[in-house]
Amino acid sequence: MADEARINAVVSDIVDGVRAALFKHDVTFDEYRVALAFLLDAFEKNDVPLLMDVFFNTTIVKIEGKLMGGSKPSLEGPYYLENAAVVTDRLPMRDEDQHHTAMQLRGRVTGMDGRPLARATIDVWHSTPEGRYSGIHDGIPPHYYRGKIVTDADGRYNVRSIMPIPYQIPNEGPTGALLTAMGRHSWRPAHVHYKISAPGMHTHISQAYFEGGAYVEDDCCEDVCEEHVVAEKVEDGVRIVEVDFVIPKATEKAQAA
Ligand code: DHB
Ligand code: FE
Repeated sequence: MADEARINAVVSDIVDGVRAALFKHDVTFDEYRVALAFLLDAFEKNDVPLLMDVFFNTTIVKIEGKLMGGSKPSLEGPYYLENAAVVTDRLPMRDEDQHHTAMQLRGRVTGMDGRPLARATIDVWHSTPEGRYSGIHDGIPPHYYRGKIVTDADGRYNVRSIMPIPYQIPNEGPTGALLTAMGRHSWRPAHVHYKISAPGMHTHISQAYFEGGAYVEDDCCEDVCEEHVVAEKVEDGVRIVEVDFVIPKATEKAQAA
């Protein structure tokens, strides 16, 4: 865990970085007061988690990914639910959504040694075709567009769902107001979330994005990296989302760090 020297080094560098920016832009007392009021408002309205998601969460994700090795991780986002059901061939969906463009999530999970990871659990979750999350928004029952897939003896998984669409993060609070004031938007590209767990293995969290999709080049949370953008591939009208994962052992981090 962090010791005094590390806390001092990290916090001092953060403070130095902020001071350098303040000097660089000749930030005035009036602006300083606006910033202070903004922070107090964000705390009061419980908007700090969103603020951190937008500006810093992906930075820590990148650092952890570098220390860990294996496939690059992504932001988890706030909408993972623990108790999704095990699914074998398709994610549960609302009857009225059946006509939407189908997608097939498939790929293979291996360890760092290249050997397949059999019976790993892959939690997948994604938005509805309206860009909402089940169990979170609009009273949508929590089992839709979520499921736990179990990999086969060769580490493979293969499950059908329908395409999500871009997602607008809550923008009515202080974080949304800040993005607007900066001339930025609050949209994320359409994405699928993955959380992969297996006994003795590091829990890997990722997202997949769709090549050519809106906001892929301009994610408000700045999470998209090239490795996570799935090339356009369609088979019989079904968008193929083929993603392989390389997962380190839980103990491999300690060696890397
Ligand atoms: C947020 C929402 C998401 O669906 C996501 O993937 C990442 C972040 C958010 O609202 O902060
Ligand atoms: Fe999401």
